[in-house]
Amino acid sequence: MAQYDLTYKIAPYLERHLVFPLLEFLQERNLYSDDQILKAKIELLAKTNMVDYAMDIHKSLYHTEDVPEAMVERRAEVVGKMKMLEEAAAPLINFLQNPALVQELQSDKQSNLQKLNERHQIGPNQIEALYQFAKFQFECGNYSGAADYLYQYRTLCTNSDRSLSALWGKLAAEILMQNWDVALEELNRLKEVIDSKNFSSPLSQLQNRTWLMHWSLFVYFNHENGRNAIIELFFQERYLNAIQTNAHHLLRYLAIAVIINKRRRNSLKDLVKVIQQEQYTYKDPITEFLECLFVNYDFEKAQQKLFECGEVIENDFFLGKQAQEGSFVTVPLRDEFLENARLFIFETYCRIHQCIDIRMLAEKLNMDYDDAERWIVNLIRNARLDAMIDSKMGTVIMGTQRSSVYEQIIESTKQLSIRSYMLANGVVAAAAATQGYNL
Ligand SMILES: *[C@@H]1O[C@H](CO)[C@@H](O)[C@H](O)[C@H]1NC(C)=O
Ligand SMILES: *[C@@H]1O[C@H](CO)[C@@H](O)[C@H](O)[C@H]1NC(C)=O
Ligand SMILES: *[C@@H]1O[C@H](CO)[C@@H](O)[C@H](O)[C@H]1NC(C)=O
Repeated sequence: MAQYDLTYKIAPYLERHLVFPLLEFLQERNLYSDDQILKAKIELLAKTNMVDYAMDIHKSLYHTEDVPEAMVERRAEVVGKMKMLEEAAAPLINFLQNPALVQELQSDKQSNLQKLNERHQIGPNQIEALYQFAKFQFECGNYSGAADYLYQYRTLCTNSDRSLSALWGKLAAEILMQNWDVALEELNRLKEVIDSKNFSSPLSQLQNRTWLMHWSLFVYFNHENGRNAIIELFFQERYLNAIQTNAHHLLRYLAIAVIINKRRRNSLKDLVKVIQQEQYTYKDPITEFLECLFVNYDFEKAQQKLFECGEVIENDFFLGKQAQEGSFVTVPLRDEFLENARLFIFETYCRIHQCIDIRMLAEKLNMDYDDAERWIVNLIRNARLDAMIDSKMGTVIMGTQRSSVYEQIIESTKQLSIRSYMLANGVVAAAAATQGYNL
């Protein structure tokens, strides 16, 4: 399964602190050896200020109580620099910690800056010091401190590049604190800035968009509204363009989001189109599943891929979150994915076959006959399939208006909400009645 692990593709687009949760996850899943992961962690930490953490990892990696001299020196250096930055930022921080003074500030940035300068002798140097101090706090792993200072810095900052990097820092801090509501707000704010800012080059803007999409995965797969938002963002032309230019692996997340989102069935056609365009640049069991089903109509292979999809999801940091249910551990997103993917198989199967034997289908789905029939009735309703159930024969008969099977397939991939459905006969009515439907 390590072949489908995207960590090494995603990490270059993340702030280094954001990579830690991914490494922690990999460590739990045992996809790589513990030593490999610990070494990767130390390497990441070397460029941050989290020296104590690096020391702890060093001790457990080499089974020793000693730490290298370099780490001890680095610790002293970090502590010294922290003191220096704190002093430089102190005038502004003291001001900001005094509610009575802060109340004097208004919404107009220029007049605030003037007031700060005239009444409190706080000028550009002190404001710059606040940024440096916030950044340093972040590097030390104090994300809440960093988030507060970066927020305040942005209210005073007049340099658009600086303001942009403060916003990136704030978003990272909120993600690392798992404040998903605030993180979503910051993500949207950042998107607005990236879309409207005058970048020095189109390449910079493209790269900023690519970064944004990577960071958004943390938010979208944790926030309850994320499933719609990810589809909206990734399908926007400029963002889709960024995916197709330098981040093909993001197709995995777009594909998953579309498959599990029943209200976004109409995005399926666009998704399949992109997956086909990119079939030589990116493939994984999830994109292959869609290809088998909607391009090649190869049901056997689609079923095989489905099995691999489950494993890929379990081993993906963004998708594989576990939940405890009594004494069971489940992966909710995997289960949801599999349920929806099976529906896709069924619906597509129905569109191709004129007549489906319910008994045969029940066996394939591992259900008893009555359950299978009830399941199919619901599917036909929900997917608005043009189908009838003949309960005497035990068959599902697909709509008769179609001229040719292949035209129908083309038609149905164009427009997945198919015509009206026709349901007939007593069994269906009875099944419906027990479930309280109005037919
Ligand atoms: C984090 O930063 C805040 C604000 O400066 C500070 O009050 C807090 O003590 C810091 N926490 C740690 C663990 O350094
Ligand atoms: C954007 O920047 C370019 C130069 O970097 C400048 O020529 C142009 O006028 C700017 N556009 C706006 C809307 O500020
Ligand atoms: C985002 O754009 C800024 C210019 O405003 C640039 O300095 C920075 O490198 C860009 N970020 C990335 C990740 O390319």
